[in-house]
Amino acid sequence: MSGALTRRTLIGAAPAALALGACSREAESREPADLRAASTPGAARPTTLKAAAPFPVGAAIRTDRLDDPAYAGLVARQFDQVTADWEMKMEIVLAADGRLDWTRPDRIAAFARDNGLRLFGHTLIWYAQDPPAFAPLIGDRAAFEAEFRRYIVQVAGRYAGQAVGWDVVNEAVDDDGVRLRGGYFLQGLGLDYIPLAFRIAKEADPGAILFLNDYNLEQPTKRATFLRLAERLLRDGVPLGGLGTQSHLSLEQDPAAIGPAMRELASLGLPIHVSEVDVTLQRGRLDPRPERDLVRVQERLFGALAEAFHALPERQRFAFTAWGVRDQDSWLRKPSESGFGRTDRPLLFDDEGRPKSTFDAVVNAWS
Ligand code: XIL
Repeated sequence: MSGALTRRTLIGAAPAALALGACSREAESREPADLRAASTPGAARPTTLKAAAPFPVGAAIRTDRLDDPAYAGLVARQFDQVTADWEMKMEIVLAADGRLDWTRPDRIAAFARDNGLRLFGHTLIWYAQDPPAFAPLIGDRAAFEAEFRRYIVQVAGRYAGQAVGWDVVNEAVDDDGVRLRGGYFLQGLGLDYIPLAFRIAKEADPGAILFLNDYNLEQPTKRATFLRLAERLLRDGVPLGGLGTQSHLSLEQDPAAIGPAMRELASLGLPIHVSEVDVTLQRGRLDPRPERDLVRVQERLFGALAEAFHALPERQRFAFTAWGVRDQDSWLRKPSESGFGRTDRPLLFDDEGRPKSTFDAVVNAWS
């Protein structure tokens, strides 16, 4: 995108300015030695992601791995932000009787605090979560809204002052890329659920940067719908503070399309969070390409995404987050699935926690 001020840029400039601290402050707080290593010509090559990046680098983490010292140490060494893979979701926190169970989310928050890591909240409202507590309230708007408000206030409020931001609404755009998704929250509140979620979250944690997050934003149609929704929220004065692009990429994704897509997402002037990157090696069973060729494609995709994010203006580089630490930790390794799911290698570190060629592709893009 050119540097020209466009309507979209003006719309998002204010929230982006507010978020500036959250993007650049972290870069200043990194160990100077690591930063010097990253920026001084001929210096030793950065050995960690956070040393290579002038912005926060995150990972989705899982409580069932945190007692493994190798895993915990790798997270603390390589990343400076964490997102709960699933422990901060409504399906875990909200019981059918309305009780809120903090065991798992607090474990994630404690790990972040104990290791000096930024905590990113994921996610408050997600169509994929249709918890029983809301089912009986559909049809009674006042009761539904009261529970909706209670949940957001309780969860965002609990981590206020620690969470640097939240995915307030996750995956609002349908897979057709045109309609907005259905689900309990649309049934209960109509389309008001989206702005209402942001307004309540802002009340609950005024300091958090509030994100609209979605996947397949590499697809022009879905990206356009997502941006129209974001523009409308901004125009209506909704406290939307950033845009999350999940970036679950497949080998069919054209690396050349990633840069233009990133620039278009940034056209509103808001901070951008590459929020869940992984690049699956899964492909059609008829794909004749040898694995090593697929890994080359995977490296190019990781490199293109890392480069596109790095090319954003500093004020818009919120964080670059991998959706998992080691390949074995990936959600794509669904043990219940037969076939490929068991052996996918979509991340930056191998099963033993060693940096892979995808790690090199990302560090090269940032050096
Ligand atoms: C996934 C988690 O990784 C899995 O462990 C869980 O079983 C299902 O959800 N987009 C999202 C994430 O926003 O919350 C999803 O995470 C992956 C797709």
